[in-house]
Amino acid sequence: MSEAKPDTPDYPERFRALRSQIEHHLSEIAPNASGAAPRLRKSISYSLLDGGKRLRPLVAVLTAEALGGRVDAAMDAACAIEMVHTASLVIDDLPCMDDAEQRRGKRTNHLVHGEDIAILGAISMISDAFGVIGKSKDIAAQIKVDLIASLADAIGLDGLCAGQERDLRDITHSVDAESLKQLQYQKTGALFVLCLETGARIAGLEPQDLEPLRSFGSHAGLGFQILDDLLDAVGDTRITGKDHGNDLGKHTYAAIMTVDEAEARADRELNDALAALEPAGIDSQPFAAFLDLVLQAYHTQIDRSPPATMSAGG
Ligand code: IPE
Ligand code: IPE
Ligand code: MG
Ligand code: MG
Ligand code: MG
Repeated sequence: MSEAKPDTPDYPERFRALRSQIEHHLSEIAPNASGAAPRLRKSISYSLLDGGKRLRPLVAVLTAEALGGRVDAAMDAACAIEMVHTASLVIDDLPCMDDAEQRRGKRTNHLVHGEDIAILGAISMISDAFGVIGKSKDIAAQIKVDLIASLADAIGLDGLCAGQERDLRDITHSVDAESLKQLQYQKTGALFVLCLETGARIAGLEPQDLEPLRSFGSHAGLGFQILDDLLDAVGDTRITGKDHGNDLGKHTYAAIMTVDEAEARADRELNDALAALEPAGIDSQPFAAFLDLVLQAYHTQIDRSPPATMSAGG
């Protein structure tokens, strides 16, 4: 357990409050049940509004808050990132990709709504995500433009799509550790980095000041993906709410290391994430609490003893 100092905020409670604001905001920006394209509306709400740890919007608004910005000003962009993430899961679950049956404790979108609607709903969610940032009344014009460009980069040929392509197609090629790290960065890290960038820009940081936070996002994203790979290898669908064993034969850290080694590697990445904030003199407490949450989420889904917490300096 973390050794709470007298002046340490109650982060678990703060996270609960922020999550509930995120859920509320998502329900406001999700399409209404009535209106044009009712099947797409249903498919989007099915995936977007029910379940998910909301780690990405959480770390985005937490970053804004930690750097002196307003949580409500970061909410549109944070939820836009969650929309892109959710769409990427709908696509990832398709029969032509991971062919999954369970997601967030429910049947996958395409099994309920059909592949055609799942794909169109995911495209629509990604498109709407750009719209949510573009139309936000809380973000200054230049920051909007920059975040929209960064979101495009995080999705495209050096982001999610590229990582997903390699995840699916590099199977027969040998992948060295550096190349695997790049794959994981594209698949997962890029969106985490964007969350940090989003919170920081909305708190008023200039592009040239983002590097320590981007580095935090990159290490945290890699650590998180390593733990996610372990859940696929040794997790239980009844607890994780999603399929496992789908990554068999893929290049993951879980495939090239033992569980202990991969956990140690993830731990190292999470420690490096925190260390990246030091030179910038950023208060690491909220970020350490977020990493604790990531670790805790992993350990509640797996039957292994938890390591020391990040907040306790472990
Ligand atoms: C799962 O992400 C997909 C990865 C990139 C590893 P999460 O574990 O954050 O999924 P949800 O949002 O909580 O369902
Ligand atoms: C998905 O990675 C990453 C995306 C870009 C969608 P995974 O295939 O490992 O995600 P899960 O384990 O199904 O959630
Ligand atoms: Mg996948
Ligand atoms: Mg998958
Ligand atoms: Mg996975």
